Amino acid sequence: MAEPSLFCQINTAATGPAETAKKHVPVITVPATIKVGQPFTVTIKVGEVPHVMESGNFIQFIDLYSGHIYISRVDFTAELNKPEVTLSIVLPHEGKRTLRAFSRCNLHGIWEGTKEVNVTK
Ligand SMILES: [Fe+2]
Repeated sequence: MAEPSLFCQINTAATGPAETAKKHVPVITVPATIKVGQPFTVTIKVGEVPHVMESGNFIQFIDLYSGHIYISRVDFTAELNKPEVTLSIVLPHEGKRTLRAFSRCNLHGIWEGTKEVNVTK
């Protein structure tokens, strides 16, 4: 049965139930060095513990933002996908940024994971 309260907020490792968070918070991986205007690879994997992809409990999508700026969405299908994606992105401005990934589980709501990056010349 769905847990309605998880659908009424953005859940994080700090705010969500710990056991549920382990399976839902997106984990963002980036290179050690990110250069202004140069493409780099961002890998987003849902959960430090892999999330199932069964019809009753699966990750529907992952969204990626830089701060509040939308970058990408990837949709997933139960049974036929693993909830992970690798994207090539470009950040056009120098400085510290927060990459924010959101995953939505059909049963457990929306979860946010973040990664601080420093974009240099
Ligand atoms: Fe779930």
